[in-house]
Amino acid sequence: MAVILLLSGPNLNLLGTREPHIYGTDTLDDCIADARDAAEAHGHTVEHVQSNHEGDLVDAVQGARGRCAAIVVNPGAYTHSSFALADALAAYDGVTVELHLSNPASREEWRRTSVVAPYVTGTVAGFGRAGYRLAVEAAVARMGSA
Ligand code: DQA
Repeated sequence: MAVILLLSGPNLNLLGTREPHIYGTDTLDDCIADARDAAEAHGHTVEHVQSNHEGDLVDAVQGARGRCAAIVVNPGAYTHSSFALADALAAYDGVTVELHLSNPASREEWRRTSVVAPYVTGTVAGFGRAGYRLAVEAAVARMGSA
C-alpha cells in the first residue's frame, strides 16, 4: 500500500461556486472523494492538503519526500508563477502528476505557461472533475517505474 499526496492550491477550496462555467459545480470534496476511490481500488491511500499559501504547498511537497509514492498536484494559479513549488517538485523523486480542471493551454495567455511542468512526470488537464480519477490512475500506472 502506498500513500499518494493530493495537493490543491489557492482558490480550489471554492470549487462548486467559483466560476462554475469554467470549473463546474462539483466541490473539492467531491473531487477528492473520486481520487480516494481510484486510489483505494488499487490498495493505495490519498492524503489531501489544500492551501492558499505557497509555503504550505512547498512544505507539503517536502513532507512527501521518502514517504509518498506519488504527488498529484493542482497548483491553481501557482502553476504559472511559483518557482518555489517548481523547485520543491524538482527535489522530489517520486511520480508527479500536474492536474487542472480546465485546460490552461486554451485559456488566457498568462495561463499558457506552467513553471512546474518541467518537473512533473505528466499532466492531466481539461477533464473537469474526472481529471482527479484520471490523474490517480496515471500516477498508479507509473508508480514503481518512475
Ligand atoms: C486551474 C487552472 C489555473 O490557471 C487556475 O489559476 C486555477 C485552476 C485548473 O484547475 O484548471 O486556479 O489550476
